[in-house]
Amino acid sequence: MNEFPMKEKEIIYFDNAATTFKPKRVIDKIVDYYKNYTANSHRGDYDISFKVDDEIDYTRTLVKKFINAKRKEEIIFTKNTTDSINTIVFGYFLYYLKEGDEVILSSSEHASNILPWMMLSVKKKIKIVFVDSVNEKLNIKDLTNKITDNTKVISLAQVTNVSGDKRDVKTICNIAHKKNILVVVDAAQSAPHMKIDVQDMDADFLAFSAHKMLGPTGVGILYGKYKLLNKMLPFTYGGGMNLNYNEKSLKLAELPYKLESGTPNIAGIIGFSEAIKFINEYKIERIEKEVKDLRNYLVNKLEKIDYIKIYNKECEGSTVIINIDGVLSGDLGLYLNTKGICVRSGKHCAKMGDNKDDTVRISLYFYNTYEEIDYLIECLKDIDSILKFAK
Ligand SMILES: Cc1ncc(COP(=O)(O)O)c(C=O)c1O
Repeated sequence: MNEFPMKEKEIIYFDNAATTFKPKRVIDKIVDYYKNYTANSHRGDYDISFKVDDEIDYTRTLVKKFINAKRKEEIIFTKNTTDSINTIVFGYFLYYLKEGDEVILSSSEHASNILPWMMLSVKKKIKIVFVDSVNEKLNIKDLTNKITDNTKVISLAQVTNVSGDKRDVKTICNIAHKKNILVVVDAAQSAPHMKIDVQDMDADFLAFSAHKMLGPTGVGILYGKYKLLNKMLPFTYGGGMNLNYNEKSLKLAELPYKLESGTPNIAGIIGFSEAIKFINEYKIERIEKEVKDLRNYLVNKLEKIDYIKIYNKECEGSTVIINIDGVLSGDLGLYLNTKGICVRSGKHCAKMGDNKDDTVRISLYFYNTYEEIDYLIECLKDIDSILKFAK
Protein backbone atom coordinates (compact mmCIF):
# COMPACT_ATOMS: atom_id res chain seq x y z
CA MET A 1 0.00 0.00 0.00
CA ASN A 2 2.61 2.53 -1.00
CA GLU A 3 -0.20 4.87 -2.10
CA PHE A 4 -0.50 5.89 1.57
CA PRO A 5 2.33 8.04 2.96
CA MET A 6 1.15 7.31 6.51
CA LYS A 7 1.76 3.59 5.93
CA GLU A 8 5.48 4.38 5.81
CA LYS A 9 5.44 5.48 9.46
CA GLU A 10 6.54 3.13 12.22
CA ILE A 11 3.02 2.74 13.55
CA ILE A 12 0.17 0.32 13.18
CA TYR A 13 -3.07 2.18 12.77
CA PHE A 14 -6.26 0.53 13.98
CA ASP A 15 -8.36 3.68 14.50
CA ASN A 16 -9.89 3.83 11.04
CA ALA A 17 -13.44 4.35 12.32
CA ALA A 18 -12.21 7.70 13.67
CA THR A 19 -10.51 8.76 10.46
CA THR A 20 -8.63 7.03 7.65
CA PHE A 21 -5.26 7.62 6.04
CA LYS A 22 -5.22 9.62 2.80
CA PRO A 23 -3.76 8.34 -0.46
CA LYS A 24 -0.98 10.43 -1.97
CA ARG A 25 -3.19 11.40 -4.89
CA VAL A 26 -5.68 13.04 -2.50
CA ILE A 27 -2.88 15.02 -0.86
CA ASP A 28 -1.41 15.96 -4.27
CA LYS A 29 -4.78 17.17 -5.49
CA ILE A 30 -5.13 19.47 -2.47
CA VAL A 31 -1.57 20.80 -2.89
CA ASP A 32 -2.23 21.37 -6.60
CA TYR A 33 -5.19 23.62 -5.77
CA TYR A 34 -3.17 25.68 -3.32
CA LYS A 35 -0.15 25.87 -5.60
CA ASN A 36 -1.72 26.35 -8.98
CA TYR A 37 -5.25 27.71 -8.91
CA THR A 38 -6.09 29.20 -5.52
CA ALA A 39 -9.29 31.19 -5.92
CA ASN A 40 -12.68 31.37 -4.27
CA SER A 41 -15.69 29.57 -5.67
CA HIS A 42 -18.78 31.10 -7.37
CA ARG A 43 -17.22 34.49 -7.33
CA GLY A 44 -14.59 35.29 -9.91
CA ASP A 45 -14.88 36.13 -13.59
CA TYR A 46 -11.50 34.66 -14.38
CA ASP A 47 -10.07 31.31 -15.40
CA ILE A 48 -8.73 29.95 -12.13
CA SER A 49 -12.03 30.70 -10.41
CA PHE A 50 -13.90 28.92 -13.22
CA LYS A 51 -11.62 25.94 -12.67
CA VAL A 52 -12.45 25.91 -8.94
CA ASP A 53 -16.17 25.87 -9.78
CA ASP A 54 -15.65 23.06 -12.28
CA GLU A 55 -13.69 20.98 -9.77
CA ILE A 56 -16.32 21.42 -7.05
CA ASP A 57 -19.01 20.53 -9.52
CA TYR A 58 -17.01 17.46 -10.53
CA THR A 59 -16.79 16.25 -6.90
CA ARG A 60 -20.54 16.80 -6.54
CA THR A 61 -21.15 14.66 -9.62
CA LEU A 62 -18.87 11.92 -8.27
CA VAL A 63 -20.69 11.92 -4.91
CA LYS A 64 -24.05 11.82 -6.69
CA LYS A 65 -22.95 8.70 -8.57
CA PHE A 66 -21.26 7.19 -5.51
CA ILE A 67 -24.54 7.10 -3.57
CA ASN A 68 -26.79 6.89 -6.65
CA ALA A 69 -28.68 10.09 -5.94
CA LYS A 70 -31.16 11.20 -8.59
CA ARG A 71 -29.83 14.72 -8.96
CA LYS A 72 -26.63 16.62 -8.33
CA GLU A 73 -28.63 19.26 -6.45
CA GLU A 74 -29.38 16.67 -3.78
CA ILE A 75 -25.72 16.70 -2.70
CA ILE A 76 -24.85 19.44 -0.19
CA PHE A 77 -21.31 20.01 1.00
CA THR A 78 -21.02 20.50 4.76
CA LYS A 79 -18.17 20.26 7.27
CA ASN A 80 -18.74 16.67 8.41
CA THR A 81 -21.46 14.20 9.40
CA THR A 82 -22.15 16.18 12.57
CA ASP A 83 -22.75 19.35 10.56
CA SER A 84 -24.94 17.45 8.08
CA ILE A 85 -27.14 15.99 10.83
CA ASN A 86 -27.41 19.37 12.58
CA THR A 87 -28.45 20.95 9.29
CA ILE A 88 -31.09 18.26 8.81
CA VAL A 89 -32.40 18.66 12.36
CA PHE A 90 -32.37 22.46 12.53
CA GLY A 91 -32.95 23.20 8.84
CA TYR A 92 -35.81 20.78 8.30
CA PHE A 93 -37.18 19.12 11.43
CA LEU A 94 -37.21 22.32 13.48
CA TYR A 95 -39.99 23.50 11.14
CA TYR A 96 -41.55 20.15 10.30
CA LEU A 97 -42.12 18.73 13.79
CA LYS A 98 -44.64 20.00 16.29
CA GLU A 99 -45.15 19.52 20.01
CA GLY A 100 -45.87 15.89 20.93
CA ASP A 101 -44.30 14.42 17.80
CA GLU A 102 -41.93 11.52 18.34
CA VAL A 103 -38.47 10.76 17.00
CA ILE A 104 -37.08 7.24 17.21
CA LEU A 105 -33.34 6.81 17.74
CA SER A 106 -31.33 3.82 18.83
CA SER A 107 -29.48 4.09 22.10
CA SER A 108 -26.22 3.16 20.38
CA GLU A 109 -26.14 6.15 18.05
CA HIS A 110 -23.11 8.41 17.90
CA ALA A 111 -23.51 11.63 19.93
CA SER A 112 -23.87 13.46 16.59
CA ASN A 113 -27.13 11.64 16.00
CA ILE A 114 -28.46 12.09 19.53
CA LEU A 115 -27.51 15.52 20.82
CA PRO A 116 -29.03 17.59 17.97
CA TRP A 117 -32.33 15.74 18.51
CA MET A 118 -32.08 16.31 22.27
CA MET A 119 -31.61 20.03 21.70
CA LEU A 120 -34.56 20.03 19.31
CA SER A 121 -36.71 18.19 21.84
CA VAL A 122 -36.07 21.00 24.34
CA LYS A 123 -36.93 23.66 21.76
CA LYS A 124 -40.01 21.97 20.28
CA LYS A 125 -41.25 19.72 23.10
CA ILE A 126 -41.01 16.64 20.93
CA LYS A 127 -40.40 13.23 22.44
CA ILE A 128 -37.33 11.09 21.77
CA VAL A 129 -37.97 7.37 21.92
CA PHE A 130 -34.89 5.14 22.22
CA VAL A 131 -34.69 1.59 20.95
CA ASP A 132 -32.15 -0.53 22.82
CA SER A 133 -29.95 -3.12 21.18
CA VAL A 134 -29.80 -6.70 22.33
CA ASN A 135 -26.32 -8.23 22.20
CA GLU A 136 -25.15 -5.07 20.45
CA LYS A 137 -27.70 -5.49 17.62
CA LEU A 138 -30.82 -3.52 16.84
CA ASN A 139 -33.89 -5.63 16.30
CA ILE A 140 -36.30 -4.29 13.65
CA LYS A 141 -39.25 -5.79 15.52
CA ASP A 142 -38.32 -3.82 18.66
CA LEU A 143 -38.05 -0.71 16.50
CA THR A 144 -41.44 -1.33 14.89
CA ASN A 145 -43.00 -1.79 18.33
CA LYS A 146 -41.90 1.71 19.28
CA ILE A 147 -43.73 3.32 16.35
CA THR A 148 -46.88 5.20 17.37
CA ASP A 149 -49.25 7.55 15.57
CA ASN A 150 -47.00 10.39 16.75
CA THR A 151 -43.80 9.00 15.24
CA LYS A 152 -42.63 11.38 12.53
CA VAL A 153 -38.98 10.47 12.05
CA ILE A 154 -36.54 7.61 12.61
CA SER A 155 -32.86 8.54 12.66
CA LEU A 156 -30.30 5.73 12.69
CA ALA A 157 -26.72 4.89 11.84
CA GLN A 158 -26.55 2.38 9.01
CA VAL A 159 -23.53 0.90 10.81
CA THR A 160 -22.79 1.93 14.40
CA ASN A 161 -19.39 3.27 15.35
CA VAL A 162 -18.75 1.19 18.47
CA SER A 163 -20.08 -2.30 17.92
CA GLY A 164 -20.42 -2.09 14.14
CA ASP A 165 -24.07 -3.11 14.13
CA LYS A 166 -25.24 -3.07 10.51
CA ARG A 167 -28.89 -2.09 10.13
CA ASP A 168 -31.16 -3.03 7.26
CA VAL A 169 -32.09 0.56 6.45
CA LYS A 170 -33.96 -0.42 3.30
CA THR A 171 -36.46 -2.47 5.32
CA ILE A 172 -36.64 0.26 7.97
CA CYS A 173 -37.40 2.90 5.30
CA ASN A 174 -40.05 0.64 3.84
CA ILE A 175 -41.78 0.18 7.21
CA ALA A 176 -41.47 3.89 8.02
CA HIS A 177 -42.75 5.19 4.71
CA LYS A 178 -45.93 3.11 4.95
CA LYS A 179 -46.71 5.26 7.99
CA ASN A 180 -45.48 8.55 6.53
CA ILE A 181 -42.44 8.55 8.78
CA LEU A 182 -39.24 10.10 7.43
CA VAL A 183 -35.89 8.34 7.81
CA VAL A 184 -32.50 9.96 8.42
CA VAL A 185 -29.51 7.66 7.81
CA ASP A 186 -26.16 8.34 9.45
CA ALA A 187 -23.80 6.75 6.93
CA ALA A 188 -20.54 7.88 8.58
CA GLN A 189 -19.46 4.29 9.18
CA SER A 190 -21.15 2.67 6.19
CA ALA A 191 -20.13 4.92 3.27
CA PRO A 192 -16.42 3.97 3.63
CA HIS A 193 -17.24 0.24 3.61
CA MET A 194 -20.23 -0.69 1.52
CA LYS A 195 -22.26 0.31 -1.51
CA ILE A 196 -24.72 3.06 -0.68
CA ASP A 197 -27.71 3.44 -2.94
CA VAL A 198 -30.03 6.14 -1.64
CA GLN A 199 -32.70 5.41 -4.23
CA ASP A 200 -32.74 1.70 -3.49
CA MET A 201 -32.85 2.17 0.30
CA ASP A 202 -35.18 5.15 -0.17
CA ALA A 203 -33.58 7.22 2.61
CA ASP A 204 -35.03 10.69 3.01
CA PHE A 205 -31.79 12.17 4.33
CA LEU A 206 -28.30 10.71 4.60
CA ALA A 207 -25.08 12.05 6.08
CA PHE A 208 -21.41 11.07 5.93
CA SER A 209 -17.86 12.44 6.25
CA ALA A 210 -15.11 12.51 3.62
CA HIS A 211 -12.35 12.01 6.19
CA LYS A 212 -13.58 8.54 7.13
CA MET A 213 -13.25 7.37 3.52
CA LEU A 214 -9.76 8.43 2.41
CA GLY A 215 -10.79 12.06 1.92
CA PRO A 216 -9.75 15.28 3.64
CA THR A 217 -11.07 16.50 6.98
CA GLY A 218 -13.59 19.33 6.99
CA VAL A 219 -15.84 17.96 4.25
CA GLY A 220 -19.18 16.31 4.90
CA ILE A 221 -22.06 15.27 2.69
CA LEU A 222 -25.70 15.94 3.30
CA TYR A 223 -27.98 14.07 0.93
CA GLY A 224 -31.69 14.76 0.90
CA LYS A 225 -34.53 14.02 -1.48
CA TYR A 226 -34.93 17.06 -3.69
CA LYS A 227 -38.45 17.87 -2.54
CA LEU A 228 -37.35 17.81 1.11
CA LEU A 229 -34.19 19.86 0.55
CA ASN A 230 -36.29 22.35 -1.36
CA LYS A 231 -38.36 22.90 1.78
CA MET A 232 -35.32 22.95 4.03
CA LEU A 233 -34.18 26.30 5.35
CA PRO A 234 -30.51 27.16 5.72
CA PHE A 235 -28.94 26.53 9.09
CA THR A 236 -26.47 29.37 8.46
CA TYR A 237 -26.95 32.57 6.50
CA GLY A 238 -24.48 34.72 4.57
CA GLY A 239 -22.70 34.90 1.26
CA GLY A 240 -23.19 32.37 -1.50
CA MET A 241 -26.62 31.19 -0.34
CA ASN A 242 -28.68 34.23 -1.39
CA LEU A 243 -29.71 35.48 -4.82
CA ASN A 244 -30.38 38.94 -3.56
CA TYR A 245 -31.62 40.68 -0.47
CA ASN A 246 -32.56 44.07 0.87
CA GLU A 247 -33.56 45.30 4.31
CA LYS A 248 -36.98 43.72 3.95
CA SER A 249 -36.53 40.53 1.99
CA LEU A 250 -34.15 37.74 1.19
CA LYS A 251 -34.28 35.59 -1.91
CA LEU A 252 -32.49 32.30 -1.37
CA ALA A 253 -30.26 30.77 -4.04
CA GLU A 254 -31.31 27.52 -5.71
CA LEU A 255 -30.25 24.12 -4.42
CA PRO A 256 -27.58 23.13 -3.58
CA TYR A 257 -26.20 26.63 -2.98
CA LYS A 258 -28.90 27.86 -0.61
CA LEU A 259 -27.62 25.33 1.93
CA GLU A 260 -23.93 26.11 1.39
CA SER A 261 -23.30 29.51 2.93
CA GLY A 262 -19.88 31.15 2.97
CA THR A 263 -16.64 29.97 1.41
CA PRO A 264 -16.64 26.18 1.42
CA ASN A 265 -13.67 23.94 2.20
CA ILE A 266 -12.55 24.29 -1.42
CA ALA A 267 -9.30 22.35 -1.12
CA GLY A 268 -11.06 19.59 0.81
CA ILE A 269 -13.95 19.25 -1.62
CA ILE A 270 -11.56 19.16 -4.56
CA GLY A 271 -9.34 16.60 -2.78
CA PHE A 272 -12.37 14.43 -2.01
CA SER A 273 -12.84 13.72 -5.71
CA GLU A 274 -9.57 11.76 -5.69
CA ALA A 275 -10.71 9.74 -2.66
CA ILE A 276 -13.91 8.72 -4.44
CA LYS A 277 -11.99 7.90 -7.59
CA PHE A 278 -9.59 5.76 -5.55
CA ILE A 279 -12.48 3.84 -3.98
CA ASN A 280 -14.22 3.46 -7.35
CA GLU A 281 -11.07 2.05 -8.93
CA TYR A 282 -10.29 -0.23 -5.96
CA LYS A 283 -14.00 -1.15 -5.77
CA ILE A 284 -16.13 -0.75 -2.67
CA GLU A 285 -17.13 -4.43 -2.79
CA ARG A 286 -13.46 -5.38 -2.58
CA ILE A 287 -12.99 -3.06 0.41
CA GLU A 288 -16.00 -4.66 2.11
CA LYS A 289 -14.69 -8.18 1.50
CA GLU A 290 -11.11 -7.43 2.55
CA VAL A 291 -12.20 -5.73 5.77
CA LYS A 292 -14.54 -8.62 6.54
CA ASP A 293 -11.71 -11.15 6.06
CA LEU A 294 -9.35 -9.11 8.23
CA ARG A 295 -12.01 -8.84 10.92
CA ASN A 296 -12.71 -12.59 10.91
CA TYR A 297 -9.01 -13.24 11.21
CA LEU A 298 -8.71 -10.80 14.12
CA VAL A 299 -11.75 -12.19 15.96
CA ASN A 300 -10.48 -15.77 15.55
CA LYS A 301 -7.11 -14.85 17.03
CA LEU A 302 -8.64 -12.83 19.87
CA GLU A 303 -10.98 -15.68 20.78
CA LYS A 304 -7.98 -17.85 21.53
CA ILE A 305 -6.83 -15.47 24.30
CA ASP A 306 -8.97 -16.51 27.24
CA TYR A 307 -8.67 -13.28 29.26
CA ILE A 308 -9.92 -11.10 26.41
CA LYS A 309 -13.60 -10.26 26.35
CA ILE A 310 -14.97 -9.54 22.86
CA TYR A 311 -18.27 -7.66 22.94
CA ASN A 312 -19.36 -7.64 19.32
CA LYS A 313 -18.35 -10.92 17.67
CA GLU A 314 -21.61 -11.17 15.76
CA CYS A 315 -21.61 -7.65 14.32
CA GLU A 316 -20.66 -6.96 10.73
CA GLY A 317 -18.90 -3.60 10.83
CA SER A 318 -15.17 -2.97 10.77
CA THR A 319 -14.77 -2.70 14.54
CA VAL A 320 -13.90 -5.17 17.26
CA ILE A 321 -14.41 -3.99 20.83
CA ILE A 322 -12.58 -5.72 23.63
CA ASN A 323 -11.51 -5.52 27.25
CA ILE A 324 -9.22 -7.36 29.59
CA ASP A 325 -10.68 -8.00 33.04
CA GLY A 326 -9.02 -5.83 35.64
CA VAL A 327 -7.36 -3.53 33.10
CA LEU A 328 -8.83 -0.11 32.36
CA SER A 329 -9.49 0.31 28.64
CA GLY A 330 -7.49 3.56 28.72
CA ASP A 331 -4.49 1.70 30.17
CA LEU A 332 -4.70 -0.98 27.51
CA GLY A 333 -4.86 1.69 24.81
CA LEU A 334 -1.82 3.45 26.26
CA TYR A 335 0.04 0.16 26.60
CA LEU A 336 -0.56 -0.60 22.93
CA ASN A 337 0.65 2.90 22.10
CA THR A 338 4.00 2.01 23.67
CA LYS A 339 4.13 -0.77 21.07
CA GLY A 340 3.37 1.62 18.22
CA ILE A 341 -0.24 0.49 17.89
CA CYS A 342 -3.03 3.07 17.58
CA VAL A 343 -6.41 2.03 18.98
CA ARG A 344 -9.12 3.96 20.73
CA SER A 345 -10.41 3.47 24.26
CA GLY A 346 -13.37 4.84 26.20
CA LYS A 347 -16.97 5.23 25.15
CA HIS A 348 -16.29 6.31 21.56
CA CYS A 349 -18.79 9.22 21.49
CA ALA A 350 -21.68 6.84 22.01
CA LYS A 351 -22.29 7.19 25.70
CA MET A 352 -25.82 5.91 25.63
CA GLY A 353 -25.16 2.58 23.93
CA ASP A 354 -26.43 -0.58 25.59
CA ASN A 355 -22.81 -1.52 26.13
CA LYS A 356 -22.14 0.75 29.10
CA ASP A 357 -18.52 -0.32 29.55
CA ASP A 358 -15.51 1.59 28.38
CA THR A 359 -13.84 -0.57 25.77
CA VAL A 360 -10.85 -0.71 23.48
CA ARG A 361 -11.91 -0.38 19.86
CA ILE A 362 -9.85 -1.86 17.07
CA SER A 363 -11.18 -0.55 13.77
CA LEU A 364 -9.93 -1.84 10.44
CA TYR A 365 -9.63 -0.62 6.89
CA PHE A 366 -8.53 -2.44 3.77
CA TYR A 367 -4.92 -1.22 3.98
CA ASN A 368 -4.43 -3.02 7.30
CA THR A 369 -2.58 -6.32 6.99
CA TYR A 370 -2.62 -9.77 8.56
CA GLU A 371 0.94 -9.11 9.80
CA GLU A 372 -0.27 -6.04 11.67
CA ILE A 373 -2.98 -8.12 13.32
CA ASP A 374 -0.43 -10.79 14.24
CA TYR A 375 1.71 -8.16 15.91
CA LEU A 376 -1.29 -6.80 17.85
CA ILE A 377 -2.11 -10.32 19.03
CA GLU A 378 1.49 -10.87 20.09
CA CYS A 379 1.34 -7.69 22.20
CA LEU A 380 -2.00 -8.67 23.71
CA LYS A 381 -0.64 -12.08 24.64
CA ASP A 382 2.01 -10.47 26.81
CA ILE A 383 -0.32 -10.22 29.79
CA ASP A 384 2.51 -9.79 32.31
CA SER A 385 3.68 -6.60 30.61
CA ILE A 386 0.09 -5.34 30.27
CA LEU A 387 -0.62 -5.88 33.97
CA LYS A 388 2.69 -4.29 34.95
CA PHE A 389 1.91 -1.27 32.75
CA ALA A 390 -1.62 -0.94 34.12
CA LYS A 391 -0.56 -1.04 37.79
C1 LIG B 1 -21.71 6.76 13.23
C2 LIG B 1 -21.08 8.12 13.31
N1 LIG B 1 -21.84 9.19 13.18
C3 LIG B 1 -21.33 10.43 13.22
C4 LIG B 1 -19.99 10.64 13.41
C5 LIG B 1 -19.46 12.03 13.43
O1 LIG B 1 -18.59 12.22 12.36
P1 LIG B 1 -17.80 13.59 12.21
O2 LIG B 1 -16.95 13.71 13.45
O3 LIG B 1 -16.99 13.44 10.99
O4 LIG B 1 -18.80 14.66 12.14
C6 LIG B 1 -19.14 9.55 13.58
C7 LIG B 1 -17.71 9.73 13.86
O5 LIG B 1 -17.04 8.87 14.37
C8 LIG B 1 -19.70 8.25 13.51
O6 LIG B 1 -18.94 7.17 13.64
